[in-house]
Amino acid sequence: MHGAASTPLPAALTELRGRDLLSSADLSAEQTRALLQLAADLKAGRCSIDLGGRTLGLIFTKSSTRTRVSFTVAMARLGGQTIDLNPSVTQVGRGEPVADTARVLSRYVDALAIRTFAQGELEDYAHWASIPVINALTDLEHPCQALADYLTLAECFGRREDGGLQLDALQGLTLAYVGDGNNVAHSLMLCGALLGVNVRIGCPEGFEPDQGVLDRSRQLAAGSGAVVEVLHEPVAAVHGAHALYTDVWASMGQEEEKAERERAFSGWCLDEALIAEADSRAIVLHCLPAYRGLEISAGAIEGSSSRVFDQAENRLHAQQALLAALLAPG
Ligand code: CP
Ligand code: NVA
Repeated sequence: MHGAASTPLPAALTELRGRDLLSSADLSAEQTRALLQLAADLKAGRCSIDLGGRTLGLIFTKSSTRTRVSFTVAMARLGGQTIDLNPSVTQVGRGEPVADTARVLSRYVDALAIRTFAQGELEDYAHWASIPVINALTDLEHPCQALADYLTLAECFGRREDGGLQLDALQGLTLAYVGDGNNVAHSLMLCGALLGVNVRIGCPEGFEPDQGVLDRSRQLAAGSGAVVEVLHEPVAAVHGAHALYTDVWASMGQEEEKAERERAFSGWCLDEALIAEADSRAIVLHCLPAYRGLEISAGAIEGSSSRVFDQAENRLHAQQALLAALLAPG
């Protein structure tokens, strides 16, 4: 049923209507903050948005549980729908050019969420499509994940008495990411820099984040007062931090490097000993899926500091806010 009155969006979000989200850096600090506020309001039932039957297409070249399901449920909650355009059942899998696929799908659906390998392929879709294109994970970035992650941090450190979020409370917190300088780390750096959260990446030599993303993060951090650092020692990376975060050592597409990476990351498990070095209120985050006993101990992921399942839930609320902004009726 459509036609329910939608809560009006703030100006910072109406300017996102029709836009793409390819990188965390595509959002301004104000837009990022407004999305987190809207996500919290949607989660608490303080507002309602009706997208009037709009359709999101999902083109996922890699596996996904959280992203696929949370986008599908988010669209349903917004009064819209989703079509799974898995490349194995469309002509994408037979090699139909992106230029043709993107133009054709733009005639049928209202937005595309794309999970693939190369950021360049995502950018090609965005170039040819006349509808919003959302990065649902590439080798370079995972911006939807970062929105959910900072929503979780804000819930833990910036909860107002009325249940709303006090996002200024994020300013000056430190998020320490220990592990591979990968897609998840990149979006955490960019989004954290926008929000004023200090981001420390702790990684072994040779597994640093992309230099271009680091430079861009530091540019954005100059506007918020945050500090973005790369360290090569796990205890130094987590010392006094308010959030400890890790992700798999071998991302999708790096399966053949798994054994070599496990050797290189020896000593980098996010475990109880590292948690003891952090702030006493520190929370433990992981984007999931996780390998217990490799990048994170079972005790850390199941312990009292862990917020990984709240974080996974927040994918739904953050993406609902994002879809509401990109697809809001004009
Ligand atoms: N964190 C995340 O993106 O999970 P999925 O790969 O299951 O979507
Ligand atoms: N870095 C991981 C994240 C999975 C959600 C990957 O790309 O496989």
